[in-house]
Amino acid sequence: MRNPIDVLIALAAVLILAATGVGREDEPASLPLATVEAVSCTECHRAIALEWADSLHARAWVDPIYQKAVKKKRRPSSCYGCHIPLPLHSGDLAKKPKPRSAESEPLEHGISCRSCHEGPDGEILGPFGAETEAHRSVQSPSFVGAGRDQLCASCHRTNIGPVIGVAKDFESTRQADRDRSCVGCHMSFEIRELAESDPNGPKIERKGRNHRINGPSDPEFLERAFQLSLEAEEGALRLRIANGAGHRVPGLIGRRFELTGRLLDEEGQELASQTATFDTFSYLDVTKPFEWVFKGTGAVLTVTGLHFPTEKSRPIPFLNERFEIE
Ligand code: HEC
Ligand code: HEC
Ligand code: HEC
Ligand code: HEC
Ligand code: HEC
Repeated sequence: MRNPIDVLIALAAVLILAATGVGREDEPASLPLATVEAVSCTECHRAIALEWADSLHARAWVDPIYQKAVKKKRRPSSCYGCHIPLPLHSGDLAKKPKPRSAESEPLEHGISCRSCHEGPDGEILGPFGAETEAHRSVQSPSFVGAGRDQLCASCHRTNIGPVIGVAKDFESTRQADRDRSCVGCHMSFEIRELAESDPNGPKIERKGRNHRINGPSDPEFLERAFQLSLEAEEGALRLRIANGAGHRVPGLIGRRFELTGRLLDEEGQELASQTATFDTFSYLDVTKPFEWVFKGTGAVLTVTGLHFPTEKSRPIPFLNERFEIE
């Protein structure tokens, strides 16, 4: 049995680490629940707040990878605008967001509810304009149709630090014309009451969106970035890897995806194999699919994928496809 004092000290250390949001340097921090509780909106919009608390938007300031990168900068203030923004609608969405001070809202709230939803006069902007006693609600073009892409693009259009401005690809390849949107892929549908924890809120179910934000750390979501198709030709097999995201893949310097294709015979013996790496320099372009040609034929072609979140991190498997060859 361990000394109870040691156990208490260890517990205190864990609590301090959790409260300061400092974790392992190579992993994004988990947001302490205490911080979520301090967000005024949580009282009534608990389900959405808990989803948000689990996103990198909520952790944009406490994230140890970000904190470490910022400490190395001569002018760290140039890094604050998108990680601790003032309400974006208090300025021009087409310009780089401005940072807030801790007096206007705690920095630990990162990209907060107010950053996206507060209007220039303190009103709440959203997709519906649903009237409530709780706050003034106004339907805003930033939350319906293509206006939503502008909201996301205000931070995701710029190349800075390790960030590749993926929204530039989205815009230059006119993804919106194909009925694609950032929200459509990154925020899944949820049908529910919006303010389910407000005792006076209406009991109306509406079609809303999950605020957890789908990203590359979810293997099932990541798989969608690589659309595979196999064609048999005269004496060869052609595997196409097309871009299933609305922008280049990956979108962060240091992130790398490695795909391996293996052609097997009936006994499962390998006949041939090819590997492709997608990173900052050799990314999967939106409009140019990648191709492998295997000479001859076989019984099965397998494609597996590994995700290296940073240069040094261990790989995470995310793709395992199998094509039976007729
Ligand atoms: C124009 C908005 C903007 C500014 C200004 C900005 N960032 Fe970011 N930052 C982002 C976005 C968007 C992401 C997410 C990119 C992604 O996940 O692909 C990000 C992510 C990061 C990450 C990755 C965190 C992780 O968990 O892997 C680091 C590190 C980072 N930023 C550092 C910086 C530094 C250093 C500066 C200042 C030189 C800076 N940022 C300024 C928008 C910005
Ligand atoms: C006292 C409870 C309460 C608090 C606190 C609260 N809300 Fe609301 N909110 C509601 C209710 C009730 C609705 C309307 C729900 C409905 O009609 O389905 C609503 C609606 C909304 C909508 C939808 C707007 C629309 O109609 O498009 C947004 C966005 C929103 N709230 C954001 C926030 C944010 C951000 C905060 C914190 C700054 C916040 N709310 C604080 C109760 C609250
Ligand atoms: C105020 C600036 C800002 C706005 C607005 C914004 N983002 Fe982000 N986003 C960021 C930053 C900063 C990060 C990375 C934070 C970090 O890793 O420290 C990020 C991360 C992400 C990620 C990576 C998530 C992951 O798990 O890897 C995705 C996807 C994303 N944002 C999509 C969106 C979408 C969709 C919208 C519009 C609804 C949006 N963002 C609006 C700044 C913003
Ligand atoms: C057709 C679906 C789709 C659309 C549209 C889309 N994305 Fe993505 N996005 C993905 C997929 C899949 C990934 C995972 C692959 C990756 O990380 O590159 C991803 C990754 C990301 C990342 C993380 C990049 C990285 O590697 O760290 C960011 C940030 C992001 N998207 C933002 C946006 C923004 C902003 C928009 C709108 C301008 C948008 N996405 C539109 C599917 C989409
Ligand atoms: C990065 C920007 C961003 C942040 C941060 C954000 N939201 Fe939203 N929110 C959106 C977008 C975009 C929609 C509209 C999605 C749609 O319906 O197309 C939305 C929709 C909503 C709605 C309407 C119902 C729904 O699900 O569509 C409510 C309520 C809401 N948000 C509350 C919140 C609260 C509370 C927080 C903080 C805990 C928050 N949001 C943080 C972008 C954001």
